[in-house]
Amino acid sequence: MLESINPSGTLAWKKLREHYGQMEFVQMQELFAKDPERANKMNIQWEDFLLDYSKNKITEETISLLLELANELNLKDAIQAMYNGGIINATEKRAVLHTALRDLSDNSSVIVNGENVLTEIQETRERIKAFTAKVLDGSYTSYSGKKFTDVINVGIGGSDLGPKMVVHALANYRTELGMHYISNIDDDYLQSVLNKLNPETTLVLIVSKTFTTQETIENAKKIKYWLESSLGKVDLSSHYVGVSVAIEEAMSFGVKRENIYPMWDFVGGRFSLWSAVGISIALAVGYDHFEQLLDGAHTMDKHFKEADFKENLPVLMALLSVWYNNFYGYETEAVVPYSQLLGKLPAHLQQMIMESNGKNKDRNGNPVNYQTGTLIWGEVGVSAQHAFFQLFHQGTKVIPIDFIGFVNPHFKESTNHDILMSNFFGQSEALLKGKIGEEYESDGGPFLSNFREFCGNKPSNTILINKLTPKSLGELIALYEHKTFVQGVIWNIYSFDQFGVEYGKILAKNIQNEIKSKNICEHDSSTAFLLRYFVKNRVVE
Ligand code: F6P
Repeated sequence: MLESINPSGTLAWKKLREHYGQMEFVQMQELFAKDPERANKMNIQWEDFLLDYSKNKITEETISLLLELANELNLKDAIQAMYNGGIINATEKRAVLHTALRDLSDNSSVIVNGENVLTEIQETRERIKAFTAKVLDGSYTSYSGKKFTDVINVGIGGSDLGPKMVVHALANYRTELGMHYISNIDDDYLQSVLNKLNPETTLVLIVSKTFTTQETIENAKKIKYWLESSLGKVDLSSHYVGVSVAIEEAMSFGVKRENIYPMWDFVGGRFSLWSAVGISIALAVGYDHFEQLLDGAHTMDKHFKEADFKENLPVLMALLSVWYNNFYGYETEAVVPYSQLLGKLPAHLQQMIMESNGKNKDRNGNPVNYQTGTLIWGEVGVSAQHAFFQLFHQGTKVIPIDFIGFVNPHFKESTNHDILMSNFFGQSEALLKGKIGEEYESDGGPFLSNFREFCGNKPSNTILINKLTPKSLGELIALYEHKTFVQGVIWNIYSFDQFGVEYGKILAKNIQNEIKSKNICEHDSSTAFLLRYFVKNRVVE
């Protein structure tokens, strides 16, 4: 169990409040002018990563007070409790052990309910390895003995976003298998995917921790119908793979026992890409690259567990975010990767961060009296510059940004990489410095110069990584996972349940019955009005 301490009642919080009083109107430009060594002092270099956090509204005192806060809230103990398999997801009475999924060492053990969970995790990894190799070399075949050409991953939320993001990110490591993700319950899209595929050589992964998620099961049924109606009365069991905690349910769907891979209740959906949920990753980039991804995450796990908080990437990034969220009152954060291949990272982070920390009750079940989970959003740079950066530069809101970029491109001969990265550096510099004073006089006279002025002082982190590889991607994802965890600890909330989303699922099920029977029950007047309109105009063929 995690302790329950109201952060706003701590001494460090009180000191941070007072400190904020002194910092509120301080301009970062002044801080840089006063201390030429600022960037040298405010960075962390670890493995292939460089985090420059000097472009933030902080002083060394801010950092030391934030670290005091972490210590007063016993962050170290919380980290230990997670790694040791403590029941830190108390509302669901579960341990939280996505870190165990990427522990590749042979001699470790993590004991939950008297059992070493690493044993089954290792066995599952071996099965994924063997299966992937057989699909890729064509020795595991379709019902007709053909090599599979395409894979459909059916799943939603954590059973979709993480694997899809990784496969997209590692496009330069791809095997020849075509990879398709079906998550939303949207027949028009599903049909557009199926139309392009050959059922005879399509493998279907049904990924659902619970095997009860309606969207996934209904989509899987549709795909099953597509296979059966196209291929006739043949044994199609080799076309199905299941990943779930619910083995019986997967079997009654028609997945053979030997094609079912386990999930564990100590792994939340949004932290599950490292398990068999990531089987589409192993198929898409080969098992060795999948293992390098796990190794990267494990390397970050060790850093998070062992590094001094001041040098600890996830801890520091989490504390900076708390500083803005709880003292400056900035509500959103943007993540802008300067890599088209990381285009799906913001969506994955949205589930990871907002499903985890979108909570308004503390660990005693009482309403919190401070802000919790931040809103996360983003898009790839440079494209994002031509979309929403105007608001960063001259809008009335302040949005702290994580700029993520790579020193080296995948292909050595890439000449455009330096153009991409010039934008990367130029934007955070412009956001810091702004454009003021005599600089604009020459730009078009005093009237126009008002509009051309921008004040700068906009905070950002720069995360510069040597190269986008499976390993560095694993490190990056794990960095944000641990940042999320630290924030949950600071905010005294439970980060690993998601009752809000589950309530939405129940309401949808009830409404579905009403639509079917055309019998609209008691609702607020808006919902009732909309449902009646829908039922009246819905044309059923
Ligand atoms: O959105 C709620 C949720 O439970 C997520 O946490 C999860 O990733 C998703 O639904 C899918 O759940 P499952 O893997 O059980 O189908």
